[in-house]
Amino acid sequence: MKKIFNNSIGMNNLNEVVELYGWVSKIRKLGGLIFIDLRDRSGIVQVVVRPENNYYEEASKLKSEFVIKVIGTVVERENKNKNIPTGDIEIDLSKLEVLNKSLDLPFTITDEVTALENTRLKYRYLDLRRPELKEILLLRHRVTTIIRNYMNDNSFIEVETPILCKSTPEGARDFLVPSRINKGSFYALPQSPQLLKQLLMVSGIERYYQLAKCFRDEDLRSDRQPEFTQLDLEMSFVEEEDIISLVEGLIKEIFEKEKGMDVKLPLQRMKYDEAIDKYGSDKPDLRFGMEIKDLTNIFKETDFVPFNNSLDNNGIINAIVVKDKSDKYSRKDLDKLNDFVKDFTKGNVFYLKYNDNTFSGSISKILDEGLEKELVNELKLTSNDLVLIMTGTKKEVKASLGALRCKVARDMNMIAKEDYKMLWVTDFPSFEYSEEEKRYVACHHPFTAPKDSDVDKLLTDKGNCYSKAYDIVINGYEVGGGSIRIHDEEIQNKMFEALNLTKEDIEGKFGFFVNALKYGTPPHGGLAIGLERLIMILAGTDNIKDVIAFPKTQSGADLMCESPSTVDEKQLDELDLRLK
Ligand code: AMO
Repeated sequence: MKKIFNNSIGMNNLNEVVELYGWVSKIRKLGGLIFIDLRDRSGIVQVVVRPENNYYEEASKLKSEFVIKVIGTVVERENKNKNIPTGDIEIDLSKLEVLNKSLDLPFTITDEVTALENTRLKYRYLDLRRPELKEILLLRHRVTTIIRNYMNDNSFIEVETPILCKSTPEGARDFLVPSRINKGSFYALPQSPQLLKQLLMVSGIERYYQLAKCFRDEDLRSDRQPEFTQLDLEMSFVEEEDIISLVEGLIKEIFEKEKGMDVKLPLQRMKYDEAIDKYGSDKPDLRFGMEIKDLTNIFKETDFVPFNNSLDNNGIINAIVVKDKSDKYSRKDLDKLNDFVKDFTKGNVFYLKYNDNTFSGSISKILDEGLEKELVNELKLTSNDLVLIMTGTKKEVKASLGALRCKVARDMNMIAKEDYKMLWVTDFPSFEYSEEEKRYVACHHPFTAPKDSDVDKLLTDKGNCYSKAYDIVINGYEVGGGSIRIHDEEIQNKMFEALNLTKEDIEGKFGFFVNALKYGTPPHGGLAIGLERLIMILAGTDNIKDVIAFPKTQSGADLMCESPSTVDEKQLDELDLRLK
């Protein structure tokens, strides 16, 4: 291969003649000299063309993003540029060849992006020329290489599972693919390879992994795409601790190699109930304090109507304390917090400001001296603290304050860069009550094993059943999740019964799977890590699109390929489909 990368050239190569290929990133004339910033995948090198050079005329006609070949001598620069790795040297041009021209670009290739996101997505191939995005693709490649090596070293084998598949039980909507040969029948794209990897355990593979494409038709968010990648893994003859320590070891290695960090193992563990109680979320962000405090007892005698009504309805009163920030919040800012919590509750945010031993704010009038003292003690208040209080059902209050503490921390710049707080959230409930469906549904999926002590409660006390499920959380993101599976037919049937699944439901949805479990299924468990979320954290971006080469928009569109798109009548006919 004759192509060498720009960044491999340095002072060691002085006086060597090199042949370089790339794009014209910038071109400028200075005191009769032409300077070309030549960009390739690795970075930029400066090429200098002197007035006496035969190629001077041709060089002066170059434009941004022309593709060129350059032959020249490596020389030391007079004015060194400390900002780029090749800043000590430049290439004194001896031969120039234009390999291709370029139209004027819809936006300039710089990391200070000003173009609208939609324009950048339409011309994604140009957007990816930006060093920042290219760097993320390289990071993603390095991380998947670490993953593959780690899994291989631990005797896992990579097995690919089908994309044209059958509905899997992850709980989102399926993407469907009509079958031409079997008219009226559909494949579903896998939401994850969950059932297939369990079947691989029945097959005796023992240790499986896959960088698996998953598809979920759900509302998109800044950390969700309809098509994403998991490091999916499954192991036989294991308990929770085995999976947890395997995955911790991988995370440690990734952060060590990519961030130079020494991650101390074992990682912190927190039970689901504690996470909800203190942080209002099953993916608590531990980079800042602001734990949720329970004030229900303190206010139990109050005659303040909103609190009173709520307590009468089994509600709770909780608060968070924003330390030393009461002066940063105007009345208007505080009113706006009410809009913010609307997604979680109909209730309002009440607030108290504490300054020089005095309370002010929306509910200061309801406090007497005794209450004031109790609040100061309970919340350990000091001057300039802001207290945000909410009341309502436990679910509403925890979710609202959980989201508020994250918003406040972001707004007040309380989160340090390059700070990584990792933990395992364990002991998830087996079931959660769905208001929509008016019944208990599986919190994880119906194949997650209950805690041994809770097997007997599956049918009688669903609200108090806990499972052998675990999530790994980093900086408030659910990076991965998994569980020990049920391998005992009797318990599996009990679980189906607990979820009110009929025989027909079971047979139609996963009869093949349940049948397979009867043929000597080993005890097994696994986990899947969302690769994009992990890369987002490593890259320091909060936009999942940044870590995917060709992402979809919030409305699920690929603006570059213009998909999804209509299809012609003939294609529909072949599939025996008609649009409504
Ligand atoms: P789960 O549904 O928790 O578990 O998914 C595992 C991880 O995948 C990532 N993830 C996503 N990333 C981007 N966009 C999405 N739409 C999206 N949905 C999920 C998250 C999540 O933690 N089969 C089980 C795993 C198991 O039990 O082994 C599963 O898929 O980071």
